[in-house]
Amino acid sequence: MEQAEILLFPSDERIRIACRDNLDFMRPLPDGGMKLIVTSPPYNIGKSYERRSSLHRYVESQARVIAECVRLLHPNGSLCWQVGNHVQGGEIVPLDAILYPLFKQHGLKLRNRIIWHFEHGLHCSKRLSGRYETINWYTKGDDYTFHLDPIRVPQKYPEKKHFKGPKAGQFSSNPLGKNPGDVWIFPNVKSNHVEKTNHPCQFPVELVERLVLALTDPGDAVLDPYLGVGSTVIGAVKHGRVGYGCDIVPQYVEIAWQRLRSLQSGTLLTRPIDRPVYDPEKPYGGQK
Ligand SMILES: C[S@@+](CC[C@H](N)C(=O)[O-])C[C@H]1O[C@@H](n2cnc3c(N)ncnc32)[C@H](O)[C@@H]1O
Repeated sequence: MEQAEILLFPSDERIRIACRDNLDFMRPLPDGGMKLIVTSPPYNIGKSYERRSSLHRYVESQARVIAECVRLLHPNGSLCWQVGNHVQGGEIVPLDAILYPLFKQHGLKLRNRIIWHFEHGLHCSKRLSGRYETINWYTKGDDYTFHLDPIRVPQKYPEKKHFKGPKAGQFSSNPLGKNPGDVWIFPNVKSNHVEKTNHPCQFPVELVERLVLALTDPGDAVLDPYLGVGSTVIGAVKHGRVGYGCDIVPQYVEIAWQRLRSLQSGTLLTRPIDRPVYDPEKPYGGQK
């Protein structure tokens, strides 16, 4: 099938989303065209959009999708696979560890295992409540796009100065801010979050924005093969990148489509990337 036939936004070259199985969506796309692939696959825990299968079959199906993603990945590109834990009879199975060999098989290199920490979720009674998930950031080669400046965060002590030596009196930390590190604290999208839709587990757009700003340049292509309600494409298009994505559930693609229309018209609410996690003045607020 021609790619153009399945696009919901044929008139906008920056947005290429469809309601499709991801292997069908990816097959016609050319090798090496995606600078960034960022996604969160089903965790095989029985959410409304997935059929729970054995861990073995789950890994087999992930292997097929990962192989296709690696084919599409640009030689200087990055692949960010965001997962939590699969839970089996009260025992947790860390999916990033289980899936790691699939990426290594293709020669990808793990650059960071980012911990995404959030405060809200199920309260467990027989183990500690889960309050993080991981984003494994892989690159295809050693020469990869990485921009630190656009994702720097405020220094803790910006006024601190060197007190001796040749730099005495000068600021001791980078005035542009510091490296955000590999533990990222972004509120997860629960009922009070300004981005909440009907989807049970959507990305906060600010998480995608940090990856897009660090790992791509304007005009680059960004893909999410498990698009959900379009958060990845929103994060990409917001910063002048081209967003590709697909989901098999028509209702989610419809919501993605509506959110992208709101983005185009300047009315989409997203949580600003530079807002502190808790702002006592505006605990639930959001703005463009
Ligand atoms: C964890 S959610 C992703 C949510 C997304 N990050 C967002 O911000 O909305 C996983 C998504 O994968 C979709 N999905 C499951 N199997 C798929 C397949 N074979 N092809 C495309 N999408 C699929 C599900 O419908 C679900 O929306």
